[in-house]
Amino acid sequence: MFRSHTCGELRIEHVGANVILSGWVNRRRDHGPLIFIDLRDRYGVTQIVFDQSAASQAHAGASEVRSEYVLQVQGQVVHRTPETVNPDIPTGTIEVQASVITIFNASRTPPLYISKDGGEEESLRLKYRYLDLRRQRMQENMHLRHRAVKYIRDFLDTEGFLEIETPILMKSTPEGARDYLVPSRVHPGQFYALPQSPQQLKQLLMVAGYDRYFQIARCFRDEDQRADRQPEFTQLDLEMSFVDQEDILNLIETLFTQLVTTLTPDKQVPTPFPRLTYTEAINRYGSDKPDIRYGLELVDVSDVLANTPFQVFQNALAQGGQIKGLCVPGGGQYSRKQLDELVLVAQSAGAKGLAWLALANEANTAPRSSFARFVSEEAIATLIARYGAQPGDLVLLVADTATVVANTLSRLRQEFASRLNLADPSVLAFAWVLDFPLVDWNADERRWDSVHHPFTAPQEDDIALMDTDPGKVRARAYDLILNGYELGGGSIRIHQRALQQQAFALLNIDAETAQAQFGHMLEAFEYGAPPHGGIALGIDRLIMLLNNESTIREVMAFPKTQQAADLMMDAPSPVDEKQLHDLHITLRKKK
Ligand code: AMO
Ligand code: AMP
Repeated sequence: MFRSHTCGELRIEHVGANVILSGWVNRRRDHGPLIFIDLRDRYGVTQIVFDQSAASQAHAGASEVRSEYVLQVQGQVVHRTPETVNPDIPTGTIEVQASVITIFNASRTPPLYISKDGGEEESLRLKYRYLDLRRQRMQENMHLRHRAVKYIRDFLDTEGFLEIETPILMKSTPEGARDYLVPSRVHPGQFYALPQSPQQLKQLLMVAGYDRYFQIARCFRDEDQRADRQPEFTQLDLEMSFVDQEDILNLIETLFTQLVTTLTPDKQVPTPFPRLTYTEAINRYGSDKPDIRYGLELVDVSDVLANTPFQVFQNALAQGGQIKGLCVPGGGQYSRKQLDELVLVAQSAGAKGLAWLALANEANTAPRSSFARFVSEEAIATLIARYGAQPGDLVLLVADTATVVANTLSRLRQEFASRLNLADPSVLAFAWVLDFPLVDWNADERRWDSVHHPFTAPQEDDIALMDTDPGKVRARAYDLILNGYELGGGSIRIHQRALQQQAFALLNIDAETAQAQFGHMLEAFEYGAPPHGGIALGIDRLIMLLNNESTIREVMAFPKTQQAADLMMDAPSPVDEKQLHDLHITLRKKK
């Protein structure tokens, strides 16, 4: 027998029992005739005592072990003396008096501390991920992830959903990222694509009549990595037939409210989830995934400043742009240098500059400002009132196109939320963003792109606009956002061939290409495709946000680096000439 109990299990009621524990040496303290070892496994830590006078052989064995040796101990559970009781751990009232020790395996000195976060380079953690995963923080993340996925499966099972697996070797799906391709050996020159999502297959399952499908689906996207993006990641993917948008929103809202209250009871979840239209989100926050735990809302003052002689304002408005800004409570004290730094932040987000108005603490002292000299006192007063600015506050303005204004102010909003600690870490602020546009204009390639994907249905009232004013067409699409991240997105889909063809045409996908890439979808729609819709949610992002982690790498067992590399296995890596030959691949010579 390897063990009678785990290292997290023994309590006062076990005193007197003879036990066997197996685990890793978390810490070893040598007091000469007494050696203490904290033995660790994923369930906890138990203190083992080796007493030279009572068990000299075990004591001799214990004097050889070092951190992270893996061993087995036999002994008796005893009370700790009152002064050695450790109230911080569940096993802290007892210890095991060892009689026998078996060393299963030695360990080299680990390159990182297991029992505490060492603040080392992440690359070291990723190279030795099997050691990093021994840490408590990572164990908690893996545990929460397991429980969340199980909760989701159980919930959807009760709701009558079927979990169905779809292939990994597939055909390209247009989710907007680059595909990972897999060369075919038996079909020279042809490639599978790894799925960016199971989008088309889940729609085909609806055609097949599986009216409530879900999958914990691995997805692959070759795109620039960020804190919340990995080349492979996991979605809760689901699809339903005979439903409206409202049915999907309600189902997901119930699922997440219950999941979060059960798994992270310390967090507050405001319900019902607030709903914003896309336009409202952009107007108020400058982003379609705003963090709504704090205000700092954007306010349009184009009208107030329309008739000022300040060229910057005049030019922006003359070119169809706008002047918007936000008010930073207490920011009026910023020095000139600090204000100049803010201008740089604004410029890095795309703005040409940042106009500022710093109110003095005393009500009758004139404000400092980069633009007040061009503007009437009356207009300044209106501006202050519009922002509800108080003495000591700072008003920041950006004049530019709507897009630049939104991006810049959204960036500044985040900047001040972090400087002023405005985002309460104990709150999970979910919200729905609705009525997304169907398409947006890709100026570089001079064509319309899908905002979600080409299978998203337009709103009934807007179908006529598809020919006349595509940018105005609203989609039957929705995103679920959480604390400033996009947690998920979905839509009611097109289920009629003619409308799908019209959508492809709008996206400049000609009939021939549509047939080659999506012929199976068009054809399936001719065999009794039911009305359907669904959503997909990022499991990695969910766990990251539930545990207040700052990247999704912290909640994935074996993530890749920002350069999409696996440092532990060393992937990607070169392959044999023979393998390439079998796959009919010749590598282009490096220049
Ligand atoms: P979408 O592309 O919005 O929709 O993806 C859904 C959710 O998946 C997560 N996600 C990612 N997580 C980590 N790394 C990535 N690279 C990454 N990319 C996306 C996000 C995102 O909100 N088929 C549609 C869904 C549908 O219409 O039903 C889709 O995939 O949390
Ligand atoms: P200047 O006339 O270049 O000295 O600019 C005066 C102030 O206007 C400075 O604070 C600039 O940062 C600011 N500014 C310049 N361009 C913009 C803009 N597009 N929006 C808002 N403020 C701007």
